Amino acid sequence: MLTVMEWAQSVLLGPKLEDKLRPISLTAPMGEFKTYTLPQTPGRIERLAFSDKQLKFPKGNALGTSSGRSIAIHSFANHELLAIEMMAAALLVYPHFDATSERMKRGILAALRDEQKHLALYIQRLNEDGVEFGDMPLNNFFWRQMEKLKTPDSFFSLMALTFESANLDFSLQYESVFRQLGDEKTANIMKQVYEDEITHVALGAHWMGIWKKDQTLWDYYRSVLPYPLTPARAKGSNYRPETRRAAGLEEDWVLKLGEFVDEFKVTNRKSWNLT
Ligand SMILES: [Fe+2]
Ligand SMILES: [Fe+2]
Repeated sequence: MLTVMEWAQSVLLGPKLEDKLRPISLTAPMGEFKTYTLPQTPGRIERLAFSDKQLKFPKGNALGTSSGRSIAIHSFANHELLAIEMMAAALLVYPHFDATSERMKRGILAALRDEQKHLALYIQRLNEDGVEFGDMPLNNFFWRQMEKLKTPDSFFSLMALTFESANLDFSLQYESVFRQLGDEKTANIMKQVYEDEITHVALGAHWMGIWKKDQTLWDYYRSVLPYPLTPARAKGSNYRPETRRAAGLEEDWVLKLGEFVDEFKVTNRKSWNLT
């Protein structure tokens, strides 16, 4: 029977979209942990290869056109694919040695399956506009952080409490933008992503909350978040603290994130253009 470890390898190293979307049961056996060296890049066929090219992220009414919508959705889908690969990498590189560490990995497995669902939803929406995933450039900003994440706490600080935390603001923001434009289909996908994302942020909040011991979550989070990322990356331009509370983050963390400003102008961005 396919183990989670074997499956994670095929998701990370398998080059085709169908490898990235390969299903697995939540109750599949975990398999044995063996020391794992991260590949330089995930396996990817040519049309999904990383690119340095950037497309301008559409704003306002441009999102109501088929081409504007496709650029936005293609960019969202890129983030989903990167999340899939990074979660697969997390399953492989961090050891499991007891029931607790295995439970942590089952949480990552459940989140990874949601990311596969999101990627499939976005791709379907692209296809409806005659666009294939890979028709536009795919950046590797998220993946480049992976080698710095030597421990599960650094992984959750970056993935759950930073990138997925920001996505709570972005998914709600774009849900309302698409709804206002009369695009119910895309708005409903954003809503679905938002609802799942709450549980992914909650997963990070849960484990970080245990590991922080007597520190505040904020101090602990900041101490393990890899340089040069800052908490400015953990929120969108329209911060919604109630969504962080819904994910179970402690009040002090929610307030400190709201107050946080940093010196990097690039992170005080107005659009979802993470490069
Ligand atoms: Fe997702
Ligand atoms: Fe997620």
